[in-house]
Amino acid sequence: MALPHIRILATGGTIAGEADPAGDGARYRAGVRPVAALLAAVPGLDGVASLDAEQILALDSKDMTPDGWLSMLSAARQALADPSVDGVVILHGTDTLEESAYFLHLALPPGKPTVLTGAMRPADHPEADGPANLLTSVRLAASPEAADKGVLVVMNGTPYGARHLRKARTTGLDAFEADQTWTAAEPDGRFASLTPTALPRVDILPGYAGAPAMLIDASVADGARGLVLALTGHGSVPSAWEPALQRARDQGVAILRASRCAGPVIHNGNADDDGAGWLTAGDLPPPKARVALMLALAAGWEARTLKTRLPGF
Ligand code: SIN
Repeated sequence: MALPHIRILATGGTIAGEADPAGDGARYRAGVRPVAALLAAVPGLDGVASLDAEQILALDSKDMTPDGWLSMLSAARQALADPSVDGVVILHGTDTLEESAYFLHLALPPGKPTVLTGAMRPADHPEADGPANLLTSVRLAASPEAADKGVLVVMNGTPYGARHLRKARTTGLDAFEADQTWTAAEPDGRFASLTPTALPRVDILPGYAGAPAMLIDASVADGARGLVLALTGHGSVPSAWEPALQRARDQGVAILRASRCAGPVIHNGNADDDGAGWLTAGDLPPPKARVALMLALAAGWEARTLKTRLPGF
């Protein structure tokens, strides 16, 4: 029987990292090793699936941009539309992995598996975790069980759904966690027919003791079309921010209350969101709420539609 065919899309990350020759051995550079070399370092991979690979980016994911998301989206959509491709695996840095994964989760058509993976140790580390993550990801992308789950992520040998995954620790192979198992993951794809050439700018503004309201005015003056407020507690808006938020709303800027804590920010819960014209994140953390808001604004959703159709609800 023919092996499943999986397309690998590489974007860089620690999984493609190598020791920095200019460093003292403690530092490395992400996104250096090309995808062909990463595949060649995984024994047995060619017995799991037939593969083709494309190097679409080669960066440290701290430098990922919305344009980079669009490049990934276009390459992944093209692969998934190809009848000879059974699934897609994307190699990505771990720092912004959850944002890219959630962006693709919202914007790719449900159906064939798409799996993102990365590594906490560079490719030339004696105990690199990338090869095992890559092997597990290809196995998962080749498996019918991974279909219709939306975008999945493999880290430390464990699959996660993109919606609930987060990087919770700066170091360690177990840096990622989720409050749901991947088998319970559900597809989304609500922006699967959207074909944006650029995404509107949405900024995340942090709430903290004494946070100045000028952050809001500066962001709007610099071109933001939406603001995600990463607020304290239950998404509590500092009183000193209210006039600047009103000015932003008057200019048509979308305002979304989120929290720097885990847990839901409930619409009209501890603020008059409807009165103020604010959106709320539900249980989405600020970086994922931003992704959803960018896509919603790109789709031209009106404020009323945004309120009822954003994924946090
Ligand atoms: C990156 O995000 O590209 C660097 C860090 C990592 O992949 O773990």
